[in-house]
Amino acid sequence: MTDTLTIRRPDDWHIHLRDGAMLKDVVNHTARQFARAIVMPNLKPPVTTVAAGRAYRDRILAAVDPALDFTPLMTAYLTDDFDPEEMRRGKLEGVFTAAKLYPANATTNSAHGVSDVKHIHGVLDVMEDVGMPLLVHGEVTHKEVDIFDREAVFIDEVMVGLIKEHPGLKVVFEHITTQDAADFVMEASDNVAATITPHHLHYNRNAMFEGGIRPHLYCLPIVKREKHRLALRKAATSGSHKFFLGTDTAPHAIGAKESACGCAGVFNAPYAMESYALTFEEEGALDKLEKFASVNGPKFYGLPLNEGTMTLTKKDHQVPERMTLSETDIIPFHAGEVLAWSVG
Ligand code: DOR
Ligand code: ZN
Repeated sequence: MTDTLTIRRPDDWHIHLRDGAMLKDVVNHTARQFARAIVMPNLKPPVTTVAAGRAYRDRILAAVDPALDFTPLMTAYLTDDFDPEEMRRGKLEGVFTAAKLYPANATTNSAHGVSDVKHIHGVLDVMEDVGMPLLVHGEVTHKEVDIFDREAVFIDEVMVGLIKEHPGLKVVFEHITTQDAADFVMEASDNVAATITPHHLHYNRNAMFEGGIRPHLYCLPIVKREKHRLALRKAATSGSHKFFLGTDTAPHAIGAKESACGCAGVFNAPYAMESYALTFEEEGALDKLEKFASVNGPKFYGLPLNEGTMTLTKKDHQVPERMTLSETDIIPFHAGEVLAWSVG
């Protein structure tokens, strides 16, 4: 049995760091595990200009513990009227690594998102031109489409056409949750890849209702049927270069989750690698973890691999029932469970 596993230092290709008082504690949970992270731009107001991206990056860097070596990679929030030249400038000035497509009203702070991709073809042309990945929250928002079908419908209604119109554009299908998305990405060109979260590998939709409603397992896209979870596990552990690590860690205060209208998001940053290791071990694929966590992402983004290493040890440790971030109490992913892997 493997007792320790040393891999190249991993990166997280999808995180929410928030802002203000919470930022300091949130970012250091990520920086303890990951060398780099793609930072989502869904702040209030969203990050829609180069100046806002630069200022947010400065606040993040000021909040990182100087003993940790961490690089935030910033993203632009696409809107219907995002100026293509602002995107070009963001890339050329080294501020924006990628841009995020939120369909309007699909999730937390997405009200200013894109109402129809026909509005953003000019920006996508520029991104294709400068080699900047498009990160997609792949869900339609029509009231008549069942929430569990929104990702699959998005593939047919939006993704297929988008890729056809921009064949040279790098596209990351973020936090995929279905077999449909895993199959789609597998069959698409090498310009299309996907991130997979630890919670979508761990839970199916029954878990959200086990013994009562479980608001801390509510995230978007919502967890799906068991067959989809199994397909995601197969994709993540397959060794395919098309799938890589993106936690979608998204903290919300306990009160905002346990509410009449609870927020979507799972705070998994503190134990993300332990959770992924568990999944890869259960699938008999620990030898594929390094590719998923540390190799496939940077290769897709055209960035160098990290030089350092991370060691995971087969050692039980207890995840706390709750954690305090600044003065905000949060229930983390795996709260109260004993995890069989530890970092370090
Ligand atoms: O569960 C989610 N939480 N999904 C998202 O797309 C956004 C995120 C957040 O910002 O809270
Ligand atoms: Zn997200």
